[in-house]
Amino acid sequence: MAKTIPISVTINDEKHTAEVEPRLLLVHFIRENVNLTGTHIGCDTTNCGACTVLLDGKAVKSCTLFAVQANGREIMTVEGLEQNGELHPIQEGFWQEHGLQCGFCTPGMMMTSIELLGKNSDPTEADIRRAISGNLCRCTGYVNIVKSVQYAANKLNERS
Ligand code: FES
Ligand code: FES
Repeated sequence: MAKTIPISVTINDEKHTAEVEPRLLLVHFIRENVNLTGTHIGCDTTNCGACTVLLDGKAVKSCTLFAVQANGREIMTVEGLEQNGELHPIQEGFWQEHGLQCGFCTPGMMMTSIELLGKNSDPTEADIRRAISGNLCRCTGYVNIVKSVQYAANKLNERS
């Protein structure tokens, strides 16, 4: 039997403990152990960004980390965005500006955008395009994704 290691990871404010093999990728832990399948797998090779989550507030590609590297840390996935039945402004932005077609890239796009908006409350189109340059979308042509992020920035600024 393969050696396992105990880990404890907080995901969307809920603590999850498990015994995992050291080789288990974080994205597989999130999807298979914790059953949060909103985090997608598009490539497994750090190219597409579909697996992006926030790790201690920083956007990371969860196919590029092992689950054991998240031990003791905090993760937010797309499922953690909605609060008390209310969409997060970034979700609202993608809805209002039609920032998706098939939706496969969308969870990763949103998590990457949240990191950007945390650092830059008024991003230009160039800032947004640079921030999402590690997230690939095969459908939209990116124009509406940029508008979605701008919508969220405006909404967050109205609130503050
Ligand atoms: S699945 Fe992680 S970058 Fe594509
Ligand atoms: S909406 Fe289909 S990959 Fe982006």
